[in-house]
Amino acid sequence: MYRSHTCGELRIADTGKQVTLSGWVQRVRNLGGMSFIDIRDRYGVTQVVVDDASSQDVKDISAQLGREYVIQVSGVVVERASKNSKISTGDIEVRAEAIKILNPSITPPFTIEDETDGGDELRMKYRYLDLRRNPVKNALLLRHRMAQEVRRYLDGEGFIEVETPFLIKSTPEGARDFVVPSRMHPGEFYALPQSPQTFKQLLMVAGFDKYFQIVKCFRDEDLRADRQPEFTQIDCEMSFVERDDVLQTFEGLVKHLFAKVKGIEFKEQFMRMPYSEAMEKYGSDKPDLRFGMEFVELNALVKGKGFGVFDNAEYVGAICVPGCAGYTRKQLDELTDFVKRPQVGASGLVYIRYAEDGIKSTIDKFYTPDDLLAIAKKMAAKPGDLILILSGAKKKTLTALCELRLEMGNRLGLRSKDVFAPLWVVDFPLLEWDEEAQRYFAMHHPFTSPKPEDIPLFKTDPGKIRANAYDLVINGVEIGGGSIRIFDRELQQTMFDALGFTKEEADKQFGFLLNAFQYGAPPHGGIAFGFDRLCSLFGGADSIRDYIAFPKNNAGRDVMIDTPSTISQQQLDELSIQVRKK
Ligand code: AMO
Repeated sequence: MYRSHTCGELRIADTGKQVTLSGWVQRVRNLGGMSFIDIRDRYGVTQVVVDDASSQDVKDISAQLGREYVIQVSGVVVERASKNSKISTGDIEVRAEAIKILNPSITPPFTIEDETDGGDELRMKYRYLDLRRNPVKNALLLRHRMAQEVRRYLDGEGFIEVETPFLIKSTPEGARDFVVPSRMHPGEFYALPQSPQTFKQLLMVAGFDKYFQIVKCFRDEDLRADRQPEFTQIDCEMSFVERDDVLQTFEGLVKHLFAKVKGIEFKEQFMRMPYSEAMEKYGSDKPDLRFGMEFVELNALVKGKGFGVFDNAEYVGAICVPGCAGYTRKQLDELTDFVKRPQVGASGLVYIRYAEDGIKSTIDKFYTPDDLLAIAKKMAAKPGDLILILSGAKKKTLTALCELRLEMGNRLGLRSKDVFAPLWVVDFPLLEWDEEAQRYFAMHHPFTSPKPEDIPLFKTDPGKIRANAYDLVINGVEIGGGSIRIFDRELQQTMFDALGFTKEEADKQFGFLLNAFQYGAPPHGGIAFGFDRLCSLFGGADSIRDYIAFPKNNAGRDVMIDTPSTISQQQLDELSIQVRKK
């Protein structure tokens, strides 16, 4: 028997028991005649004590121990003289009667403590050591808990988990595919799924009615803190549903997770906001609603007063920052530098200080105090507030104002990780015009249905068609997205026409689905959640990396197993692949 208890289990009530523990040496402290060994496993840390009363054998072995040795300790549980309230086993220690080295360890390249001296790259290279650390281990335990609760809820709602293939053909999700060469079919390739989108729709044609899968998806796109080349979706689809049925079912899933995993009850329905409103008020299709500072358009109030910058701008918009009228010149200069950064892209910042002793602005020359007061009134500003104004081309200015709003939210501490503000963004545009390609692309994917009342716009103004599509956004993060699908062949053809697909192209890429739709496709719709994002949101982290056991770095590499890597000439030959020399 390797152990009678885990290293996180023993309490004061166990005093006097004879126990055996197995685990890793976290630390050894030698204090004169005594030494303390912290032994760790997944469950916690227990202090082991070796002192004068211990046998020579025990003393000899304890003198050999180093960090991360795997050991087995037997002894008696005793109450500690000086207790440690920070750990669950802190009231006791185990007086060692026997210690066995099960396996020694070479010195680890970084300290395996909550706070480590290891840099990112080093931790990734030795990920199995990093995973021994509490913050990373706990992230994966949270992920496990979430996955179990997802299954519990969806099973309870009658969903069936079905696995779909990984070796498929290009999916219509819009990123680049990872491809796998076929040995048996020289010159032909599988693609790894960007999502199981087409398969889940086929499962609806098959009559499965309610499907889900916690599934890996693969996208060859630029990486960021919340993007990995392989990531996990909670992918779902339902038949005989309208938009509100889908939203209600999956709002139920998210509420279930909040209640079971975080102990947070959401009593009210999540807010729903049309895409157009999100863009006008927050300059983003994923607004962070933990705080206000909504945009106010000022065009009507500020134009025609001789201030050329505003007169020539397509859009003048502002946010009202509460309580910041006292900002110093230096702070305001900092904000001006912030908005001028290329990532934000504004050409300058105009401010109005609505102070207790009067209203002041950088544009006093063009606007009378009454003009400024009228702006303050429109902004619903109170004395003590600061108004920040940006202007220019509308789309660009909304984006810059969005960045400024988030920055002010950060500065004022309004973006706490313990507050959760969920909302459904609905009625996305169906199509997006691409200047470079001079054609429309599907904003979600080509099977997303338009809102029925907008169908006539296909003939007149396709860019204005709204889709029956929705995203779940929490704290400014796109957690999930989905839509009601087109299940009518004729409408699907109209959609392909709008996307500039010829009949041959559509048949080549999606013929299998279009064919299936001729055999009685039910009305259906669904959603997919970014599971890694959901976990990191619940865990209060900015990056999804620590919620993935073995993630890739920002360059898409796994530095632990060192991949991507070259393959042998023999493999290349078998696959009929010629590699161009660099
Ligand atoms: P979509 O492309 O919106 O929809 O993806 C669904 C959710 O997956 C997450 N996500 C990612 N997470 C980590 N790394 C990535 N590279 C990444 N890309 C996406 C996001 C996103 O909201 N088939 C449709 C769903 C449907 O229509 O039912 C789809 O894949 O949280």
